[in-house]
Amino acid sequence: MAVDTTTSARDLLRRVRQTLDANDRWRARTLNLIASENVLSPAARSVLVSDLLHRYAEGHPGGRYYEGTRFVDEIETLATETMQRIFRAGWADVRPISGTVANEAVFSRIVPQGATVVAHTVAGGGHISHARIGSLGKRTREIRAWPMAPDGYSIDLPAARDLIAREKPALAVFGRSLFLFPEPLRDLRDVCAEAGTRLFFDAAHVLGLVAAGRFQDPLREGVDVMCGSTHKTFFGPQRGLVLARGDDPELVKDLDKGVFPGSSSNHHLFSLPALLVSALEVEAFGGRYADDTVANAQALARALAGRGLAVACAERGYTQSHQVALDAAAFGGGKRASARLSAQDIICNMNLLPGEPARNAVDPRGITLRPPIVTSRGWASRTSPRPSLAPMV
Ligand SMILES: Cc1ncc(COP(=O)(O)O)c(C=O)c1O
Repeated sequence: MAVDTTTSARDLLRRVRQTLDANDRWRARTLNLIASENVLSPAARSVLVSDLLHRYAEGHPGGRYYEGTRFVDEIETLATETMQRIFRAGWADVRPISGTVANEAVFSRIVPQGATVVAHTVAGGGHISHARIGSLGKRTREIRAWPMAPDGYSIDLPAARDLIAREKPALAVFGRSLFLFPEPLRDLRDVCAEAGTRLFFDAAHVLGLVAAGRFQDPLREGVDVMCGSTHKTFFGPQRGLVLARGDDPELVKDLDKGVFPGSSSNHHLFSLPALLVSALEVEAFGGRYADDTVANAQALARALAGRGLAVACAERGYTQSHQVALDAAAFGGGKRASARLSAQDIICNMNLLPGEPARNAVDPRGITLRPPIVTSRGWASRTSPRPSLAPMV
């Protein structure tokens, strides 16, 4: 929007405030069904604004390239230890500033240039960072698509085993953006081991479910590295996370270098205390929240299907995660349907569905409906609001 230079700075400042207030009021009453988002608890919000907004820290606590970090060192150490405890991970890195940055840090160090890898296509539910035009594509053009069963949502196991045995990919990328059911890690880990293929799991969406011991437990099911976003089902501030079992010192060294200096220098310290508070809340209340979120997704799917809507995967009970996929062709496609819903203050995303060409991304067939925020707010009939630790004042 062009700024009218004749308008005084004072008027513009007022407009900033008014616009933010209008957004806050609107967002507070929308039915938000966007999967990538959640809301911070009052306790996490209460530590978001501090002197750390202005500070820098590179490296690790106790080994910084900046002076003046002794207090943030304490927060970062506690956050790292808490993540290790929650995920039973021998090694954790809380420094990536988003899930995409975490993926970039990992791919940059464990995918040799030009190596063959296997991942989900974007229409198959994969994230853009797993695609040729994303992070993974900076390392290699040789990205094979997971072969899918006729339902489009499950990996075809015999075909996947053949692919891995034949192509011996350096990395097998599991985890998706459209992520309804657990990945078959146990079914594919042996063939990966024989082929020398490392297993990577992108838990961006399901991190809170995994933290709560729901959905699946990738590090125990054979995964070498797991990444995630800390602000989706894991209801913290917008950051990223890398986790590993920690039993492979060479791998840990590579991952550590991938995070810093490979993909970041300073790591937006102001949100680290909120990450720590949210992680403690996940530890305390995450199980109930994960159960409620999945139950709400399943109830939404059943209700929509009961009204004749084309909800995906009826034969598998629609979903075991926080997501519901819907074919919106009967409503003019995903773009039209999501715009109409948005006009009614129901916010959801249009989404490619399995089998669609990538060029449909601007006007795909599907929409996705995901109730993590509705669950946090306690707006679904069988839930009360997500508990919070007491705000720190
Ligand atoms: C599977 C997957 N990986 C990574 C990301 C990126 O996470 P972030 O938005 O934290 O960069 C997303 C985002 O939704 C995702 O769906």
